[in-house]
Amino acid sequence: MLYGRDAERAAIDGLLDQVAGGAGGCLVLRGEPGIGKTALLGYAAEAATGMFVLRTAGVEPESDLGYATLHRLLRPLFDRIDTLPGPQSLALGVVFGRASGPAPDRFLVALATLSLLSEAAAERPVLCLVDDAHWADAPTVAALAFVARRLADEPVAMLVAARGDEGRPVDTAGLIDLPVVGLDPAAAEALLAC
Ligand SMILES: Nc1ncnc2c1ncn2[C@@H]1O[C@H](COP(=O)(O)OP(=O)(O)OP(=O)(O)O)[C@@H](O)[C@H]1O
Ligand SMILES: [Mg+2]
Repeated sequence: MLYGRDAERAAIDGLLDQVAGGAGGCLVLRGEPGIGKTALLGYAAEAATGMFVLRTAGVEPESDLGYATLHRLLRPLFDRIDTLPGPQSLALGVVFGRASGPAPDRFLVALATLSLLSEAAAERPVLCLVDDAHWADAPTVAALAFVARRLADEPVAMLVAARGDEGRPVDTAGLIDLPVVGLDPAAAEALLAC
């Protein structure tokens, strides 16, 4: 049960409604440890009725493994990688160890990620939940930021949760920040009483 958070829920509901209408976007939930970021991602997952929900999270031991966090996000779509245009298919195939070749251009990996999400969203809207992005590997963060800036015409929503001053800074240029601060007093009281 999620107490309070009316403004944050409204922002998430607004994004999900927008996506149902074909226009995607990204919200970056930023706040201190324990403030309720993961709880809000859980709210979004429950609210995303009928959507294809993809999840990943940065984990500290994998924060230097290139594309580890992206690998977890896209796993359910791996069987579609072969349907992408050749260079994009090869780029994702190589970084995920499914094809051999030289390390691909990062732009191609980001583009392939956008194409893959867009292709899945043609069937039903997609919600990407990226938790603990401050521990995600840098290539994943760059690829997801690239994708997030290009969702206006795609039925794809992305929610990124990150601590503000830990791990690797998450680039949010061009994205909408949703600061997560303390609960209002009534919600805090209800939470303490439960
Ligand atoms: N609005 C809320 N209503 C009820 N429970 C909440 C609410 N916000 C947070 N909690 C609970 O408080 C605890 C901490 O919240 P949460 O795990 O979401 O924090 P976080 O911001 O993701 O922290 P971290 O940065 O450590 O991942 C969890 O048990 C969560 O379920
Ligand atoms: Mg959390």
